[in-house]
Amino acid sequence: MKKLLIAALTVSSMLSAIANAQAPAAKGDANAGKAKATAICSGCHGMPGTKSAYPEVYQVPKIAGQSEAYLVAALKGYREGNRYHQTMVGLASALTEKEIRDIAAYYADPAFGKAK
Ligand code: HEC
Repeated sequence: MKKLLIAALTVSSMLSAIANAQAPAAKGDANAGKAKATAICSGCHGMPGTKSAYPEVYQVPKIAGQSEAYLVAALKGYREGNRYHQTMVGLASALTEKEIRDIAAYYADPAFGKAK
């Protein structure tokens, strides 16, 4: 019984060590995200307009100021097939895990679009 308890404690402390090691990576780097976002996303998700004229006029949702968690979930949703939109599936699938977090951090910044 004592052996079993020790084994259980060892496993649980190993799991929390793994969880702690991954924790810092969860926050995106807004500066790194900015370069990507300006190059890829801003043509459609531009500020202040939220309409795109190519290939036809269609509404593009405003993503600036959304919560970081929402943006990460949305992008992963397109990538993993839980959300369907041809363009966004293609774009999100080309992003790495880190790029998704960085871009989300960039758009989630409350100061987005304001002069600094
Ligand atoms: C060619 C135009 C285009 C480009 C480029 C583009 N998007 Fe989109 N995006 C759209 C459209 C249109 C939608 C709405 C899709 C839908 O109805 O699901 C959308 C939806 C989204 C959503 C979901 C918004 C919501 O309110 O749920 C996110 C997040 C998003 N895009 C992020 C990005 C990011 C990050 C990039 C750059 C890597 C990007 N998009 C590039 C057109 C674009």
